[in-house]
Amino acid sequence: MVQFILNNQTVTATQAKGSTILDYIRYYMRLMGTKIGCREGDCGACTILVGSLEADKLVYRSMTSCLMPLGNAQGKHIVTVEGINMQNISPVQQSIIDTNGTQCGFCTPGFVVSLTGFILGNKSTTYEQAVAAIDGNICRCTGYKSIERSAKIIAGSIAQKPESGTTDWLVINGFLPAYFLNIENRLRELQITNTLSPLENDTGKTKTIVAGGTDIVVQRPQMVKHSNVELLFDTRILRGIKEEEGQCIVGGGVTVTEFFESPLIQRIFPALAKHIKLVSSTPIRNMATMAGNIVNASPIGDMTVFFLALDASVVLARDSQQRTVKLKNFYKGYKQTDKEAEEIIIEILFDIPSEQTLFNFEKVSKRTNLDIASVNSACQLQMAFDTIETIHLSAGGVAPFPKYLSNTCAYLQGKKLETQTLEEALKIVNAEIAPISDARGSKEYKQLLLRQLVIAHFLQFFGPTEAIKKFLFQ
Ligand SMILES: Cc1cc2nc3c(=O)[nH]c(=O)nc-3n(C[C@H](O)[C@H](O)[C@H](O)COP(=O)(O)OP(=O)(O)OC[C@H]3O[C@@H](n4cnc5c(N)ncnc54)[C@H](O)[C@@H]3O)c2cc1C
Ligand code: FES
Ligand code: FES
Repeated sequence: MVQFILNNQTVTATQAKGSTILDYIRYYMRLMGTKIGCREGDCGACTILVGSLEADKLVYRSMTSCLMPLGNAQGKHIVTVEGINMQNISPVQQSIIDTNGTQCGFCTPGFVVSLTGFILGNKSTTYEQAVAAIDGNICRCTGYKSIERSAKIIAGSIAQKPESGTTDWLVINGFLPAYFLNIENRLRELQITNTLSPLENDTGKTKTIVAGGTDIVVQRPQMVKHSNVELLFDTRILRGIKEEEGQCIVGGGVTVTEFFESPLIQRIFPALAKHIKLVSSTPIRNMATMAGNIVNASPIGDMTVFFLALDASVVLARDSQQRTVKLKNFYKGYKQTDKEAEEIIIEILFDIPSEQTLFNFEKVSKRTNLDIASVNSACQLQMAFDTIETIHLSAGGVAPFPKYLSNTCAYLQGKKLETQTLEEALKIVNAEIAPISDARGSKEYKQLLLRQLVIAHFLQFFGPTEAIKKFLFQ
């Protein structure tokens, strides 16, 4: 059984934990405001807000209900568009009306929910943040300019919102219904009285590990629905990011959002804000976990490419046994990893780079937002004067799995950064990749892209120096 608060109602769901919360909301609770567009996390028509107690504080995040397993709602507050305007149209909805931000209306509930998620964020009040909050919502008929105008009105109307006591202020000013004021206490009671109990008919079924569901529910929704799911999303020991003896330890269940929001990670990677925009969309980042990215073994996994350039390791656990594997040795072939079915990734470890270490991530995709990469790459570099002391280079989209460019790294180590060295390194890059032509580009295009991304790393680190100039404008 799964117990949670749906808008203002405490509910107990007996449906399969691996079925989607979208189907529960629409077909069991008959709340039809949450729409079904793609069922693949792409369109945002099914966006809901998920409120949960994080470090004893109620935090709301937008998520795509078409990919969220019902079991991941345990002990949480699920908000649909019906829960936002219980008596009156909310100011968010009114602003969309005022700017003609809707035509057929199919996408509108998703936009309303995402923008309400924006106003609920403690620190977010700017127009840019309002627009960023709808990066996972697609509209096919209105045109985005009027929706952006609505975002501007909303950002302006919450300019006076305090950093603490946000919910009180939002209720007083009519953005949220009053029942939101009691949710934190109601969730605490739920957490105490209820833990997720297995359904009787789950035993004997195939066991499937699911975290955020943003990969496995897209690929195999029926299999997830009908299997005995091991839900890792809320497993405490898989969460958290810490520093220990010069190493950064990232829990396997840490989401992309949590990773990018972590003060420790922001300290280690000051340019992180630029990178985050390149990874999926706000609702997907709120669900997608680090371990899910690594285990799904997609050749273009962004976080995997990021960790490969950090020369990271993964810690795999089964019962009381643990083993640590270098990420660069984890992949054995297309979608094949060095992981037994029952093993789970509990941690990802990497040495914290020194302040002098340079790090960069690049990604090229067909669309800027909400798209997977054609080719991506990351680079970690330490220089000793003009000589490359250590380099770790990774690339996605150019091999059957995310690739650590070991031959190129071995060649560059100890070399001076000169045009000839880079020319030779690019030849080695080309020799150790094997891209294929597909919907994201031809083999030749991907070869060229990676070449440019490798140059982009050096350009980012050193600017257009003599050694690099030759590769520009070719
Ligand atoms: C619309 C959309 C956009 C996307 N954009 C991007 C993008 O820009 N970049 C990108 O890299 N990815 C993208 N993805 C893919 C996906 O979001 C990521 O790969 C994500 O990190 C998967 O994490 P998850 O927790 O959702 O995994 P899940 O779907 O829950 O699981 C994926 C696999 O990992 C296994 N697994 C999960 N956790 C563990 C664990 N702790 N130990 C062992 N096995 C585990 C599961 O059994 C499953 O096989 C996108 C997905 C969608 C739907
Ligand atoms: S239905 Fe399109 S994102 Fe869920
Ligand atoms: S109003 Fe029709 S899809 Fe957005």
